[in-house]
Amino acid sequence: VTNAAGGIRPEFQPGDLMVIDDHINFMGVNPLVGAWEPTLGPQFPDQSRLYDSELRDLLHRRAREAGFEAAHGVYLATSGPAYETPAEVAAFARLGANAVGMSTVPEAMLANRLGLRVCAVSCISNRAARAQGAATLSHQEVIEATRQAAPRMQALLTGKFATADDVPD
Ligand code: HPA
Repeated sequence: VTNAAGGIRPEFQPGDLMVIDDHINFMGVNPLVGAWEPTLGPQFPDQSRLYDSELRDLLHRRAREAGFEAAHGVYLATSGPAYETPAEVAAFARLGANAVGMSTVPEAMLANRLGLRVCAVSCISNRAARAQGAATLSHQEVIEATRQAAPRMQALLTGKFATADDVPD
């Protein structure tokens, strides 16, 4: 899963890529609420290893092979559609979030419940919220930053992910 996200960690620059180690679901809803049946996976799915460590290592290796270091960290999802206030960003930093966005968590949670191995990468498109006096954050800026990061994102995602163990008999 890929997304654009606002960087909360102070060192993050637009265009950085962050392999997601874990997430905080701050969307206000749980995507797994609703009718359950056993073919969808467990009723109360474990999420303690949601982002597969081998796949995360693979992404870091691919970044190094392409000549750059991918960051890693915790992604916090809000429902959006508004970007965050500075106070929200400060609060999310205290909760342990390194980047914030409006997606990915529902897909990752459902895939995990279905038993799929999950990995995800954030393209840091901007600094989350704005210091006072700085230019306002726009969707256009997010699109532009992700466009510039596309070749590096491609380096992470191009190639095989499956192993022989993933292929059902
Ligand atoms: N906040 C939330 N979602 C985002 C951001 C952001 O700063 N940038 C790109 N998606």
